[in-house]
Amino acid sequence: MRVLVPGGAGFIGSHTCLALLEKGYEITVIDSYINSHKKSLQRVVDILKRNNKVQNIDIDIEIADIRDEMVLDKLFLRYKDLGKPIQAVIHFAGRKSVKESVLNPLLYWDVNVNGSINLLRVMDKYNCRTIVFSSSATIYAPTDGIPLKEDTLIKPISPYGRTKVAIEQILNDTYNIPLEKWKIANLRYFNPIGAHYSGMIGEAPIGIPSNIFPYITQVAAGLLDELTIFGKDWPTFDGTCIRDYIHVMDLAEGHIATLEYLNNFEEKIINLNLGTGLGTSVLELIDTFEQVNNIKISRNFSSRRIGDSCKVIADNYLALSCLNWSPKRDLKDMCLDGWKWQSLNLKGYE
Ligand code: NAD
Ligand code: WQD
Repeated sequence: MRVLVPGGAGFIGSHTCLALLEKGYEITVIDSYINSHKKSLQRVVDILKRNNKVQNIDIDIEIADIRDEMVLDKLFLRYKDLGKPIQAVIHFAGRKSVKESVLNPLLYWDVNVNGSINLLRVMDKYNCRTIVFSSSATIYAPTDGIPLKEDTLIKPISPYGRTKVAIEQILNDTYNIPLEKWKIANLRYFNPIGAHYSGMIGEAPIGIPSNIFPYITQVAAGLLDELTIFGKDWPTFDGTCIRDYIHVMDLAEGHIATLEYLNNFEEKIINLNLGTGLGTSVLELIDTFEQVNNIKISRNFSSRRIGDSCKVIADNYLALSCLNWSPKRDLKDMCLDGWKWQSLNLKGYE
C-alpha cells in the first residue's frame, strides 16, 4: 500500500515514516522543509539499513508545498499511471506554533486550512479517500483536570487551535459527501516528546524552543542557560502544570494502528485522543529527566504563561478500545531517548 505523508520530514512525521517503512508500507513524503531538515528522512533510511530488517525501502520525497495543487495533482497522477495509486494519506503538514499563530493568523489559516482543502480536493479527484489527520488536544476547552474525552467541549483559544477545528469540520463535511465513501481519523495528540531510541532522529526546533521538552534537553546540552518554569502556584500537588506526555514512537505507531483500523470499514469517521492518560507535572518531568540521565537542569520560576491550562490529560479509552494499540514507553524512556537524540546531535540536523 502506498501512503502519502505530507509533512513527513518533521518531528512526528519522520518517526511515523520510520514506523511505516518498518511495517512494509511504500511511502511518498511531500514536505516544504519550512520547519524541518532534509537529513531527517535520510536518517530514517540509515536506521532501516543499519537494522537490516526491511528488504525494500520504498520512500519517495517531493519537496513542495501542499498549497500547490498542480504538484499534488501530478504526484497522484504519476502513481496512478504507474498502476500503484496512492491509497491513503497521513497528513502532518502545517504550522504548529501557538504564539506565531497569534501574531500571524492569516498565515496559519492559509497554510493549515487552505493546504488541507487542496489536499482533500486532489485526493477526491483520484479516489483516494482515506486520511489520518494530525489534530491536537489544544482544541478542547479546559476541564479542570478531568481527563479529556473526544466529546469534551471544543473551544480552542488560539488561531492555531481554531485552524485544527476548522480542518476537522471540513473533514466532517467531506465525509458527508453523498455517494462517496471516506475513511477519516482525526488524531488529537497530547504532548509528544522523546525520540527514536537510536538517537538518530528527533525534534529539532528552529530557534529557541517554546515547548518544554526541547527546552530541557537544550539546557542539559549547555545550549541554553536555564529553564523558566511558568508558575508555581497552580492548584496541583506541587504547584506546576500537569500534562500528558507521550513518547513520539508510541504516537507514530498509533498512526499505523489507525490506518489498519480504518481499513476494516467501508466508510468511517472517528476522533481519537492519542495520549497515555497519565498526568506529569513540570517538576516531575524535570526530576525524571535529571534522574535517568544524571544531569542537573538549572531552573527558575516565573509567573504563569498566558493561555496555559492547569491540567491537560487524555481519556484514551476510545483509542485503546478501537485500535490495536497502547503506549508502551514510559516517562523514563521519553527522557532517556530524548536526551540521547539531543546529546548526539547538539545542533539538531545541522
Ligand atoms: P513539524 O513542524 O516538525 O512537522 C510539520 C512538517 O510539515 C514540517 O516538516 C514542515 O516543513 C512541513 N510543512 C509545513 N507546512 C507545509 C506545507 N504547506 N506544505 C508541505 N509541508 C509543510 O511538526 P510536528 O511536531 O511533527 O507536528 C506534525 C503535525 O502534528 C502538525 O500538523 C501539528 O500541528 C500537529 N501536532 C503537533 C503536536 C506537537 O506537540 N508536536 C501536538 C499536536 C498536534
Ligand atoms: C508544557 C508545560 C508550560 C515551556 C503545546 C501547544 C499544543 C500542542 C503541544 C500542538 C506547560 C510548561 C513550557 C517552558 C514551562 N502542540 N513550560 N517552561 O503548552 O501543553 O502544548 O504543545 O498542537 O497546542 O500549546 O506544551 O511544552 O509548551 O508546555 O514551564 O519553557 O510546560 O507552562 O505547563 P503545551 P509546552
